[in-house]
Amino acid sequence: MHITIGTDHAGYKHKDYLVQLMGTLGHTVSDVGGCQGQSTDYPLIAIKAAQHVAAGKADLGILLCGTGIGVSIAANKVKGIRAALCWNRETALLARKHNNANMICMGARLLDEKACGEMIKAFLSEPFSKQERHHRRVNQISNIEERNCAGDDHKQ
Ligand code: RB5
Repeated sequence: MHITIGTDHAGYKHKDYLVQLMGTLGHTVSDVGGCQGQSTDYPLIAIKAAQHVAAGKADLGILLCGTGIGVSIAANKVKGIRAALCWNRETALLARKHNNANMICMGARLLDEKACGEMIKAFLSEPFSKQERHHRRVNQISNIEERNCAGDDHKQ
């Protein structure tokens, strides 16, 4: 799989560990930043990573900030993105299974890097449900997006 990853200054240590983990699992990673010692505004990184995923340049995306909240709010402004704030393995699995999330967002000040790694492994391995009700609900979200973002194309 091709994975995009991004973080603000709160998560760069986690990012290094996670990029390495993705490599050992055979995934290709596009790292959109940030870097050690550099204060980074989370909306800028989140949008960059989200546009990468929305444009089909990656299959799924990973975002980190202190709480995971800021990056999830920002990423969800990009058309086609379903960014899920997850806090354990179960929420990571259900974000894929029920919500067809295409980005996982995690709080680097709340979860250690190993916990994030386990959540990502779950997220990457779980397919979207085949059940009609979950497709219907995700389509309802897409319809809301279409109505509210008419003419607004964030894809690059
Ligand atoms: C940065 O200090 C912090 O606000 C950020 O990482 C994140 O938690 C925002 O949601």
